Amino acid sequence: MRKVMIAPSVLGCDQGNLGDEALALQMAGADMIHLDVMDGVFVPVLTVGAGIAASITRRVDIPVDAHLMVQKPSHLIKAFADAGCSYITVHAEVTSHLDRLLQQIRIAGSMAGVAVNPSTPVDFLRWVAPAVDLVLIMTVNPGYGGQEYMEYVQEKIPETRRILDCYGGSGALISVDGGVSDSNAGKLRSAGADILVSGSFITGSDDPAAAIEKLR
Ligand code: DX5
Ligand code: ZN
Repeated sequence: MRKVMIAPSVLGCDQGNLGDEALALQMAGADMIHLDVMDGVFVPVLTVGAGIAASITRRVDIPVDAHLMVQKPSHLIKAFADAGCSYITVHAEVTSHLDRLLQQIRIAGSMAGVAVNPSTPVDFLRWVAPAVDLVLIMTVNPGYGGQEYMEYVQEKIPETRRILDCYGGSGALISVDGGVSDSNAGKLRSAGADILVSGSFITGSDDPAAAIEKLR
């Protein structure tokens, strides 16, 4: 089993102070920062843009994944790449031209991630596997932190690994996002998750370092 990486989401942090908040999470043992970008259209909530992403990447030296929950990601990719995001993750549901979008991310200088909602099948990954550096499997419907983990979605993890390995994406990482806590982290790891994204379990706890350690 590969070493699992813990990626706290800063969605529940002080939104006016995300550089410091991300630095504190790095010092608490985070391997990656997960930045939830919401446009108020693909999901009802509006969060942050590339300027805030830059204020985070300037402070930390761990990778930042910008999870773009937006209807038109193509307009934003260059700005988030220039902001220093190591990964830019777009939703499969928003585009008829996923391959082009993933290429656009790599050309902009970041690694290309694709996210799938709980109701989205993963068989399409066969046709983009070589173009993908990260698959983000959503175990809640995107839009809010603190929702209940949808256990049945876990089946997608081994299926995703098999497709990636068979069709030229063996280097791509599998990340799981939504309702991740110490009660499901073990199962997610055994199922093949490389990255555990976790918001409220870490940032809502009194001791984020201990919460990160529990997830490991
Ligand atoms: C949901 C976001 C998640 C969320 C995770 O739309 O994509 O990253 O912040 O938060 P928890 O761990 O509280 O579900
Ligand atoms: Zn997210």
